[in-house]
Amino acid sequence: MSDQKTTPPPNAHQKVEKNVGLLIGLIAIAVSFGGLAEIVPLMYQAEAIEPLPGVEPYPALELAGRDVYVREGCYNCHSQMVRTLRFESERYGHYSLAGESVYDRPFQWGSKRTGPDLARVGGRYSDDWHRVHLVDPRAVVPESNMPSFPWLAETPVDAEAVTRNMRNLRRLGDPYTDEQIEGAAEAVTGKTELDAVVAYLQGLGRHAPTAAAVTAAAVEGQAEPVENAR
Ligand code: HEC
Repeated sequence: MSDQKTTPPPNAHQKVEKNVGLLIGLIAIAVSFGGLAEIVPLMYQAEAIEPLPGVEPYPALELAGRDVYVREGCYNCHSQMVRTLRFESERYGHYSLAGESVYDRPFQWGSKRTGPDLARVGGRYSDDWHRVHLVDPRAVVPESNMPSFPWLAETPVDAEAVTRNMRNLRRLGDPYTDEQIEGAAEAVTGKTELDAVVAYLQGLGRHAPTAAAVTAAAVEGQAEPVENAR
């Protein structure tokens, strides 16, 4: 009998632990499974990818306004997502559904609110109010700390950019017709960026779910009905 100790051959677990490269690779695979299980099903759920009834791609002028909104960084202070909390829907209207923003690229949901949520701002004020407010917020809301955007009133909409944008969106699957794309330049001729942003703001929430639409969707298994829907 020999008393010499023999080390057992390393098992698989020890091999992985001692090889940093292999460990990192296997961790990456394990983590990505979690991500895939959460993200991939969403890409196929009707609730998340199909427009709510009546939701259509933005008309040319509103699309131009949306671009200005993104360029000026309005999203740094304004979200466009009403949360599923009672005090939110009491203030802003029905909570946001994914089907409202299928044509928003990139989406403007956000969570940073220096100013109020804008998802349902359409129709809340007159066009004139918005014009004055965007050029000089303190003229209508004396305590406002929103920046002024006076140059919007002097900058014409870039018709070529709008047309190009619509073509690209169609490539991504937005159902723009040839007519809409060909008519885009005419639709924005003579308009300023201020006109475009106001048109965009006035359209926000136009397709907010109504009690009837939400109940219909719930019947099809798409969403829960809610009591305080508009
Ligand atoms: C630095 C933060 C900030 C930025 C950037 C900002 N806002 Fe505001 N916004 C506010 C604040 C604060 C209020 C509330 C006071 C007021 O009405 O002016 C407000 C109010 C508003 C309102 C009225 C909302 C309501 O329900 O009363 C609209 C519309 C609006 N902003 C649009 C815009 C647009 C469009 C842009 C980009 C061109 C923009 N804001 C950029 C802070 C900001």
